This record gives sequence, C-alpha cells and structure tokens, in this order.
Amino acid sequence: NRSDALVRDLEGVRVLVSAGGTREALDPVRYLGNRSSGKQGYAIARAAAQRGAQVTLVAGSVSGLADPSAVEVIRIRTAAELTTEMLKRAHEADVVVMAAAVADFRPVTVADAKIKKNDTGPAPIELTTNPDILRELVSARHDGALDAQTVIVGFAAETGDDHGGVLDHGRAKLARKGCDLLVVNAVGEGKAFGTDDNTGWILTADGQETALPLGPKTLMASRILDAVASVLGDERC
Ligand code: CTP
Ligand code: CA
Repeated sequence: NRSDALVRDLEGVRVLVSAGGTREALDPVRYLGNRSSGKQGYAIARAAAQRGAQVTLVAGSVSGLADPSAVEVIRIRTAAELTTEMLKRAHEADVVVMAAAVADFRPVTVADAKIKKNDTGPAPIELTTNPDILRELVSARHDGALDAQTVIVGFAAETGDDHGGVLDHGRAKLARKGCDLLVVNAVGEGKAFGTDDNTGWILTADGQETALPLGPKTLMASRILDAVASVLGDERC
C-alpha cells in the first residue's frame, strides 16, 4: 500500500506546497476571499514529509488546521504575497504543488481607512487580475530561471457546464497551464470545499488520465504523491 507512512520514497526530495485561500484586502478590516479550507494542500504537505521529503508549506487562510509536523510553514494573506513566496522558493524545490485557491481578482485600490457608509449607497468595487502563479512557474522553468527538472503540479476545481464536463475543462486547463500534473476535482453540490472527501482525476502532460476514487483527502494526497514520485522516477531514467 503506497499510502503507508513507512514508504520513504521521497527521501531528500524538496517539496514546496501552497494551500488555502488568499484574501484580497479592501480596507484595513475587509477582504474578498474564498471558501478553500486548505485541507488538500495540508494533507499533501503532511504525507510528503512522512515519505521523507523536505517540505515547505506556504499557507493562506485555512480553517483551523494544525501545522503538519516536520514541515516549514510560511504564512501569506494575499495573492501578491503568495506570488512572491512561491517564485522565490521554487528555486530550492524539486516539486512545486499549487494547491492554493488563489483569488483571480483583487480590488484595484486598498483603502487606508475603513470604508464608511454614506447616503448615496456603496461605490462599485473595481477589480484587477492577479498574476497566474502556476503559469509564471511554468514560464520561469521554460526561460531557465527554474531548473528544467522541477516538477510542477496544478489543481483545478471544475463543475462542468454547457461547454463541457469536468474532465473536458480539466484537459483544457492542463494544456493552458503547461504544468506536469493537473489534479482535477469535481465540485459543486457539497463536493470538495471544506469536506474531507474529494473525487477527480490526475492528468499528466503526456496524456495519462488516472481516476481518483471518492475518498478522504489524505488518500488523495497519497495518490497525488504517487504520481509525483512516478514523474521524478522517469526523470532519473
Ligand atoms: N492558480 C494560480 N494563480 C492564479 C490562479 C490560479 O497559480 N492567479 C493556480 C491554482 O493554484 C491551481 C490552478 O492554477 O493550481 C488552477 O486554478 P483555477 O482557479 O482552476 O484556474 P484559473 O486559470 O484561475 O481558471 P478559472 O477561470 O477556471 O478560475
Ligand atoms: Ca481561478
């Protein structure tokens, strides 16, 4: 059983994991956020450390999770802070896992003082697009700023819509992002957010698709690390 904590197949491998949601400030007391619990990223960090990896966890907002033991934990709040930390630390990583729920947009301005009510009603909030960290990591590797052997893992939470199912969106996202592995989760109707169970697929850049059976995020973490170990093993051949 590969989920056995005694399997130390990642001994000495440096793993950088982002987890949780980012919070985009509006003023000193308010932010735009999302419902990410951080559970999947934490489970990956914990499992990687158990398998012998040297793990750094860059954590945004999470719901009451204990720091995994034997893992360096860095706290971030905003997507901008996460971008800085990930791009800086990726140089010292063999594997980078983007499990964080990065806000796609942030308010253009952050008020210095608390925004007050007035008689004319609320002003619209103007938003701007955050950097796509996963794509920046992939292009840094392409440009030679990151080691060509760095394994880059992305996540996609998809619902499926008129344009295609969960897997179709996942395939398109893998092509768009250019990472080595994309973990695709089916979300909606109580799935994924804040729950202990996930369901989905692991897609590889070379076209392999492995279904992830419904199960706890800890088991999912083991499966994801099995796929990472397999990419690392291929590189050594
Ligand atoms: N991601 C990132 N930087 C962002 C947004 C997302 O690094 N600004 C990463 C996530 O951590 C995840 C992957 O990209 O690993 C996919 O995130 P997702 O939100 O599904 O993708 P988007 O490109 O933002 O597409 P969508 O319009 O579906 O939200
Ligand atoms: Ca997004």
